[in-house]
Amino acid sequence: MSRRTLGQPQPVYSLEPGLGADEFLAVLERSGLAERRPVHERERIEAMLRNADVIVAARVDGELVGVARSLTDFSYCTYLSDLAVDRRFQGLGIGRRLIEETHAAAGLRTTLILLAAPDARTYYPHVGMEPHDSCWILRPGERLKGVPED
Ligand SMILES: CC(C)(COP(=O)(O)OP(=O)(O)OC[C@H]1O[C@@H](n2cnc3c(N)ncnc32)[C@H](O)[C@@H]1OP(=O)(O)O)[C@@H](O)C(=O)NCCC(=O)NCCS
Repeated sequence: MSRRTLGQPQPVYSLEPGLGADEFLAVLERSGLAERRPVHERERIEAMLRNADVIVAARVDGELVGVARSLTDFSYCTYLSDLAVDRRFQGLGIGRRLIEETHAAAGLRTTLILLAAPDARTYYPHVGMEPHDSCWILRPGERLKGVPED
């Protein structure tokens, strides 16, 4: 056994399409991602889970310690929306494995796409993802320029 794994918890990874809102919210809180997600809008959180295509969970002794929630067509593209690892378990390779499991479940021929939270901007290049300088977003409620008002 390597020094890295000696004495460390060995998480169990699995697809959990039915992951419940309470556990999801708990890991968002314990990771720090809660401040960037609509955690006070329960119905919205439930819809995020219900309508996700791939939810990968990492559990230690049954407890949810990491999650990756993605939308995909299983053919071309996969948007990894939420990646969160409980602070107590960060730096153990769980985030990396959640990304790998997500990509495998969605299909390795899909392009994995995500937007990094500020604190994670250095993480994704570290694990081997490449930056894209032409990503564009339209925030909730924003309208395109040149579209006539209703
Ligand atoms: C970002 C996050 C998902 C990473 O998960 P993790 O399980 O801690 O990361 P891993 O253990 O897989 O890290 C793999 C490697 O990246 C490194 N790493 C971890 N966080 C890093 C960071 N912010 N910047 C640079 N490198 C980082 C680790 O040291 C490790 O390096 P090594 O393999 O060379 O030893 C986790 O820190 C987290 O949940 N953060 C809060 C929520 C968040 O920002 N989520 C991302 C939303 S886009």
